[in-house]
Amino acid sequence: MKIATGISEEGIRELKKALAQLLADTYATYVKTHNYHWNVTGPRFFSLHKAFEEQYEELAGAVDEIAERVRALGGFVEASFGAFKKLSTIEDETKVLSEDEMLKQLLQDHESICQIARATGDLADKFSDHATVDLIGRRLGIHEKFAWMLRSHL
Ligand SMILES: [Fe+2]
Repeated sequence: MKIATGISEEGIRELKKALAQLLADTYATYVKTHNYHWNVTGPRFFSLHKAFEEQYEELAGAVDEIAERVRALGGFVEASFGAFKKLSTIEDETKVLSEDEMLKQLLQDHESICQIARATGDLADKFSDHATVDLIGRRLGIHEKFAWMLRSHL
């Protein structure tokens, strides 16, 4: 069924694509943060175990919100490990890392999501998709905050 909420067809097409990318990157960061919550070892174990928990819980809520925005724009949410891996720009981590390596990697991932989200926000603005502009504004605030917190441990 045609979506008649006032966003052009081109806008809907572009926004669905950009949000699918953000969804995949957010999901990949969620998995990695959960991995580090489980596998972190070292003198800062407890504080990092807790900090990573706070962050993966937030990201779990975010993927739901982003996916539902894709649905509201009429898109189908490709939600499988295969689909996420194909789209995501966040590198998988399979090695066991030190505390600082984990922090540096997550910092880089959140900074990279900020860049992707900012471009998505500009696109949403261009097509007057104010609901996505709002969502992206909140996502940027969170990723910038997480980046600051991770950076402060280093
Ligand atoms: Fe846990």
